[in-house]
Formats: sequence, structure tokens, C-alpha cells
Amino acid sequence: KDHVTILAIESSCDETAAAVVRDGREVLSNIISSQIALHTVYGGVVPEIASRKHVEKINYCVREALSQADLTLEDIDAIAVTYGPGLVGALLVGVSEAKALSFATGIPLIGVHHIEGHISANYIENKDLEPPFVCLVVSGGHSHLVVVKDYGVYDIIGQTRDDAAGEAFDKVARAIGLGYPGGPKIDKAARDGDENAISFPTAKIADAEYDFSFSGLKSAVLNYINIKRMQGEDFNKNDLAASFQKAVVDVLTEHAIRAALQYGCDKLAIAGGVASNTGLRQSLEKACKDNNIKFYRPSPVLCTDNAAMIGAAGYYEYMKGERADLSLNAVPNLPL
Ligand code: KG4
Ligand code: ZN
Repeated sequence: KDHVTILAIESSCDETAAAVVRDGREVLSNIISSQIALHTVYGGVVPEIASRKHVEKINYCVREALSQADLTLEDIDAIAVTYGPGLVGALLVGVSEAKALSFATGIPLIGVHHIEGHISANYIENKDLEPPFVCLVVSGGHSHLVVVKDYGVYDIIGQTRDDAAGEAFDKVARAIGLGYPGGPKIDKAARDGDENAISFPTAKIADAEYDFSFSGLKSAVLNYINIKRMQGEDFNKNDLAASFQKAVVDVLTEHAIRAALQYGCDKLAIAGGVASNTGLRQSLEKACKDNNIKFYRPSPVLCTDNAAMIGAAGYYEYMKGERADLSLNAVPNLPL
């Protein structure tokens, strides 16, 4: 057989997704059913609502993924599914779907780590990208600086001590009334603001040179807003968004470039929802150019949660001979 065709399923948070990926890098279909509108009224993801919606949508997503790829289950070599980290009830829907399909058809099952999926999103549009490279993973739940030594072999050299980068975006957006999800809203507001209007502190962590901390910055922004409100003064939301975003982008850029240089990698990739941030992409683009590092970034739709990235990661697991059995379970805090 010339090709390996993988059906991938992702349901770790608030997107129900299924995709068909060929040989790890060619996306034949990529279906995403977003629940964002459903959770917006609550200002964040409500786990129980997410699980129930996944149950309603998952079969549709799988059918649509196969049909848009013009394939049937008979053409599928393996079923890859995210089994952690994420919301346990949400993960269980995808895992159960994948296990049921595998049991009914005998198609091999592969469990995929969600963050490994995010990192692997870089392989899809960059056919030339191969390990080793440094990857900055910044999502709603994670902020990791990772050395990708080989396919599926990771060395985590830095991570957040408190909030994830995306979490900080979401919390600041809520505080200034931009709504959920905050990342894209801040990104948009920042384009019309002055990033030098307000100077916010960025944390340096003395004993771990690649770790991040965003809760201090978040508190500084919240304090700024409270003081302005107490004084009855108005503040420019766009300036605040731009200044906050700059503080986050600066520390992410600085850490990522320093890691690439120190680890002797001339390739830097980014992954996760925050990797779709315009300011971060511009900043890293420039910094990489200045330091002779090749910069890789997935298209925004492959940065936020999707199943194509799970199909890419699943392919490399498949090629290594990794297989899951029907005891595969959701692991909410699965380590990388
Ligand atoms: O990777 P993702 O879709 O889900 C997780 O695995 O967490 O990331 C979602 C996070 C949210 O916090 C969202 O606000 C943030 O990514 N995000 C952004 C942007 N788009 C999404 N943050 C900054 N700028 C953006 N354009
Ligand atoms: Zn994610």
C-alpha cells in the first residue's frame, strides 16, 4: 500500500472535530464544529454543555470528514483520537467514538496527546519541516517551550508557573468587557491601539530561564482597570489591549529565540490557539529573521483546536508501531 490514511477525532475542549489525513501531512478533510457561540453567554467553556454538544455532533463530524475526503471506513488505516489533556467529559466522547469505530471495523486505534497534535500541525503546511526544532506551544491550557528532538520525542525546557498565555488573554478580555474567547478579541482591538501607551511588567523567573508567568501581568492589568474606574477615569480599551498583548508577545519572543539559539536549532515553530495571534506572528517573524532562524507557523485554522493536527501526530505514532486497545481512556492531565 502506498499511503497511510488516518481518520482523526478531537473533542478535548469546545470544538468537535474530525479529519482525514494522508501520510501525516496531506489533509483530505478537516471538519470543525465550534461550540463557541454556545459558551459565550457564560463567559467561558461550561464542561457539561461541551460534553453534551460533542455527543450531538461527533457522528456528523466523522461522516462529513469521510464524505469530504471521498472515502469510506474501508479506506482508513488507523483511527487517531485525542485522549488527553483536556476536559474529561469532553475527551470521553471522542475516545468512545474512536473505540466504537475501531471495535466495529477492526481498524487499529491510536491515542494522541493533544499538545503533540498542536506541535504536529506544523508538519501539514511545511513538507520540509523535520525535527529537531524548537516549538513554542501557547494555548488556552498550556504554555510550553519544547525541543522537538525527533517525531514524538520532546524535551520540555520551559512552562508556565501559573496561567497559560491564552488564559491570560481570556481573563483580560473579560475584564475589559470584550467577551469570550478573549484572544481573537484582544488581537483585533490591539490593532487599533498604541502598544506603548501603558507599560506593564513582565515576570522574570530567576531559577528557570525558560519558564513563563502570566498571572502577575494579568493582575497588573486588572489593577490598572480598577484604579481607573475608582478614579472615575476612562481608559482606551484598544491601548490597553495593545499594551497587554505586547507584554505577552515580548516575553514569548524573547524566550523562544533564546531557546533556539542556545539549543543550536535554526528552526522555530509555534503552535496552539495563541499562535494565531497577529502580534506574536509578526514579532517572531522579525526576530527569527534577525537571528537567521527559519520560522514555521501553521495557518490560524490549524493553530486552534482541530482534528487534522491529531491525524498528523497520529501518523508518526502509527509509523512507530504504537497502537492503543479498547482500554484506552481519557486522561485529563496527561503529561507530554
Ligand atoms: O489551542 P486552543 O484552541 O485550545 C486549547 O487547547 O486551549 O487555544 C485556545 C486559546 C484561547 O485562550 C484563545 O483565547 C486563544 O487560544 N486564542 C488567541 C487567539 N486566538 C485564539 N489568543 C491570542 N490571539 C489570538 N488571535
Ligand atoms: Zn488545543
